[in-house]
Amino acid sequence: MAKKRFEDPQWAATQALSLDYNFCMGEFVGGQGLSASELTALAPRLAQIHQELAAERQSGGLAFLELPYQQEMIAAVRKVAKPILEWCWDFVVLGIGGSALGARAMHQALCHPQYNRFPLARRQHRPALWVLDNIDPDNFYGMLDGLELRRTAFNVISKSGSTAETLAQFLFVYQLLQGRFGEAKARERIIVTTDPEKGNLRRLVEQEGFPSLGVPPQVGGRFSVLTPVGLLPAALVGIDLEELLAGARFMDQRLKSPEYQKNPAYCLAALYYLFAQKSRNILVMMPYATALTGMADWFCQLWAESLGKKQDLQGRTVHTGTTPVKAVGSTDQHSQLQMYMEGPQDKLITFLEVGKFQNRLEIPDLFPDIEGLHYLGGQSLNELLAAEKKATAFNLRKAGRPNLTLRLPEINAFTIGQLIYLLEVVTVATASLLGVNPLDQPGVEGGKQTTYGLMGRPGFEAQSREIGESTPLLEKYLVS
Ligand code: PA5
Repeated sequence: MAKKRFEDPQWAATQALSLDYNFCMGEFVGGQGLSASELTALAPRLAQIHQELAAERQSGGLAFLELPYQQEMIAAVRKVAKPILEWCWDFVVLGIGGSALGARAMHQALCHPQYNRFPLARRQHRPALWVLDNIDPDNFYGMLDGLELRRTAFNVISKSGSTAETLAQFLFVYQLLQGRFGEAKARERIIVTTDPEKGNLRRLVEQEGFPSLGVPPQVGGRFSVLTPVGLLPAALVGIDLEELLAGARFMDQRLKSPEYQKNPAYCLAALYYLFAQKSRNILVMMPYATALTGMADWFCQLWAESLGKKQDLQGRTVHTGTTPVKAVGSTDQHSQLQMYMEGPQDKLITFLEVGKFQNRLEIPDLFPDIEGLHYLGGQSLNELLAAEKKATAFNLRKAGRPNLTLRLPEINAFTIGQLIYLLEVVTVATASLLGVNPLDQPGVEGGKQTTYGLMGRPGFEAQSREIGESTPLLEKYLVS
């Protein structure tokens, strides 16, 4: 078999992500920046965290870190994908949060922007991918309405198997398919991705015989993108799973060093933590590439659910974490940027920059007599986008606004694998610095439980009573 490009160490080295945090430092942003000694002072704590994480990993506590090494997962995913590819034109993910965002992010990053609209032949007979992560009835109905159901497969994804939104979507779709095609054919059109042993969906798989894939029990929703949760949709749209996991492994190897100067995850965690200590409570993730918008959304969820915590590991009330915000360059230079430049000094901006795009689009020189147009002629959209990013980073720096750049040499499965793995480790390392548990989400669970109560799920009567007995709304605060 031909060697894959990621097996060539020279190629892999050209695709390594890099980090530039010059504009976080006092030399560039003055008093708003960090001093080298602040970073150095954190080094022993980072080295200790390195040991703690390694020990936890060894004892199976951070199972997501091992996912890039689980080649058998690819085989399981391919086995399920193969029959679907024979007939399916549209593949619909029914899931939410960690069960939706990774698939959407990879699709957006690694497929042509018009992939879903291409005729089948141009998609190499692969299905379009739709991620329905909301239950807005008009949107949900509208999305289903536009599909050729005979050629549509639905992937119901829920790790817990109990999320109300996903289960409601499933019930609606299953009835629709049963009515249209009868029970047996309806069943063939639903693939379930859930816990391998427990939960409502696993029970249904056993009872009804839906094709299914398991999510490793120790891997939580937002860390599950490199499990069948993300890999099945990715495989169906033609993303190279081997390259994706190879990228993640490549990053894992780079993260073996306890020294933050050599370890981009600890370096980022240190910067995010130190600026959080200086009341920079907003963390902006700003890719200068439309294809990476979904990655920024995925990161925002990972960050918010992992770090926004009331209690620390000692049970003390801390209300910690920084609020992630997505922005896109250059689009948001004409929207959010004014706030970043002149608003409160409470943000840290991370740019995602792409070294080389697939296309180079030259700007024609059509009106040499008009100076305001002529200067663009002969340059490229690529140069313009790079200049926009450089200008933004520089102007922020000039205004004393810290920012840093994470650079992807290209957007491909290898670099996306690196980015996913890097940001997962950054999140966990930052949680260690903040002293919180990144793997739970009591705030999200609380919302789920109150909804169960409101919707009459047995066992959640207390939640429903609590709302019923809470202070009634006051007329004086209602405007109509
Ligand atoms: O990261 C998480 O744990 C959450 O965002 C979940 O992914 C989300 O709530 C959906 O949960 P589930 O996959 O159990 O339906």
